[in-house]
Amino acid sequence: MATQSEIEALYDWVHLFHPLRSGDYADFSCAFFDGNFNQTLAVAQTAKHQWVLDGLRFQPVDRILDVGCGWGPVLNAVRKRGGKALGLTLSSAQARYCAAKGLNVSLQDWKTVRPFTLGVFNGVISIGAFEHFCSMDEYIQGIQDSIYRDFFAFCAQVLPVGGRLFLQTMTWGKEVPDPKRLSLTAPEGTPERILARLNKFYPGSWLPSGKAQIIAAASDYFHFLHSSNGRLDYIETLTRWGNDSGKLLKPFRLPKALWGVARLFPRFCFEADFRVQIESARRNDQQVCFQREIMSHERMFFERT
Ligand SMILES: C[S@@+](CC[C@H](N)C(=O)[O-])C[C@H]1O[C@@H](n2cnc3c(N)ncnc32)[C@H](O)[C@@H]1O
Repeated sequence: MATQSEIEALYDWVHLFHPLRSGDYADFSCAFFDGNFNQTLAVAQTAKHQWVLDGLRFQPVDRILDVGCGWGPVLNAVRKRGGKALGLTLSSAQARYCAAKGLNVSLQDWKTVRPFTLGVFNGVISIGAFEHFCSMDEYIQGIQDSIYRDFFAFCAQVLPVGGRLFLQTMTWGKEVPDPKRLSLTAPEGTPERILARLNKFYPGSWLPSGKAQIIAAASDYFHFLHSSNGRLDYIETLTRWGNDSGKLLKPFRLPKALWGVARLFPRFCFEADFRVQIESARRNDQQVCFQREIMSHERMFFERT
């Protein structure tokens, strides 16, 4: 599983630009266009929050746990609808950001939290975090399924029978890659090279094989309700983020963006892995993987049995 330092190796620098280009409480995950690409990204992200909360049968008094809360989009959506939410994150920059916005956040790993200390929730949401729960090494060791079972056991402990869980995650696409073949020196454009870069972009992270693996891991505690594939929506989300990056050049954002670049200059000079992360972002590796179906994306609802 990605450790706090691996999570921060990515989210600390993303923190300098993502909220600046995408606004307050910026989602760092696929929006819910649901095939309608005439909507703005902001509308599609709000549609996701609505769709997820409705799918959880959210009531204004409810208490929601968000595992992997990022910059607080779901916490804020719950607050706006009159509920209470607690977010867990492994990024101290995100935790500080959420706390400054008056959101209830805890810098904790779900794996080390004792669930009873959190209390009981009416629903659990985890968007774009499951990808970080199993590392490539753990996959090679053959413990991916047991990590996922532990996650569902954790969620089950904070939910009553009938309580719902929403999980959104990237998955592998047509086939699960062979970790031994990933190489930064493989020919450019091959899955081996692209995935080697993405493995540096998301350190300590390896994807689930697909929906079936996730449903099986959840089955001790959760009944699978329904899901929607978000591969095309993710391609669109990544396109919109790319377009929005141009906003960083606007006069009122540019000084902060330049300050971010200046802060990262030493990392760029001295950290080879960071340079690979930048290269991966520059080459749109994630988008290429969705386009070529090397990766896919699932949005899944479950109910506690
Ligand atoms: C791609 S971001 C998604 C953030 C947010 N859910 C959104 O949609 O914008 C992944 C989040 O998962 C969190 N995360 C990853 N592994 C975690 C763990 N083991 N425990 C708690 N949070 C974790 C990261 O800190 C980060 O906030």
